[in-house]
Amino acid sequence: MQNAGFAALGLNWRYLAFDVHPDDLRAAILGAGVMRFLGLNLTVPHKILAFGMVDHQDDSAAKWRAVNTIRFEAMDASGAWKPLSQLPVQSIGKVRSVGFNTDADALIRALREDLGLEPCGASVLLLGAGGAGQTAALVLAEVGVSKLFLVNRTQGKAQDLRQKIQASFPAVAVFTGYPDGPVDLIVNATSLGLQASDPLPLDPAQFSIAKATAVYDMVYRPAETPLLKHARAASCRAANGLGMLLYQGARALEIWTGQTAPLDAMRAALRDEVYGR
Ligand code: ATR
Repeated sequence: MQNAGFAALGLNWRYLAFDVHPDDLRAAILGAGVMRFLGLNLTVPHKILAFGMVDHQDDSAAKWRAVNTIRFEAMDASGAWKPLSQLPVQSIGKVRSVGFNTDADALIRALREDLGLEPCGASVLLLGAGGAGQTAALVLAEVGVSKLFLVNRTQGKAQDLRQKIQASFPAVAVFTGYPDGPVDLIVNATSLGLQASDPLPLDPAQFSIAKATAVYDMVYRPAETPLLKHARAASCRAANGLGMLLYQGARALEIWTGQTAPLDAMRAALRDEVYGR
């Protein structure tokens, strides 16, 4: 996806994958800067660790206390920090790392663009209170959903999350358990659906999917999870999690390049990679 994006912009850049042990993360970030990498993406389990390791945090990282994108910067002749890509190589002195988080906005963009759903004011049933579920709950609360119903296999985690949201976002009505009435949106943030043998992440005896207008499944492989199959059969609008992956990557590319992401080229490459040619 990133290499296709760079190619579409005519940039002679390369995006490469490296396995880094968490114990070596600090050295890896410092090393990448010293070698004048333009930036990095980080994934689990590095996102929270990296938050304390970057030299400077963008607001997006500070808000979520997690970093999934790093841009390396150095000072220009006037003493202003600039992305390395904007500086002549010979002028690059001391390099600093700046941490960003592009995950949170990606969910909201996916809901708006892939589902046609405006989360502000919506009532939402969120399935899952693990790492992805917690971030989703906080992002949805921040964007101003009206009601948030939290369901998780381990109920204590949903209750802890409810308290966290109530403390930070008092305007949002947060509940644990299934709603009595209809909802605008169901979000699956559990890992159920990745395996063909997985049960549905929602108990149909307790909540009928037909009571939802739209269903967003963060799982994107397989393209149609059992939950999405049920959603389509019940005439709900439905989308899988590929958009979240695309939009977080597109925003990262914009942070590194300063240019608008070539979304169609990135989406096509991502689909080829994930679903095969
Ligand atoms: P992630 O970072 O992807 O969210 P996680 O923190 O391990 O990963 O969370 C996985 C989520 O899927 C959790 O909500 C988990 O429920 P528990 O908190 O009860 O563990 C949920 N999950 C995983 N397997 C499940 C299963 N077999 N049945 C119900 N929920 C499941």
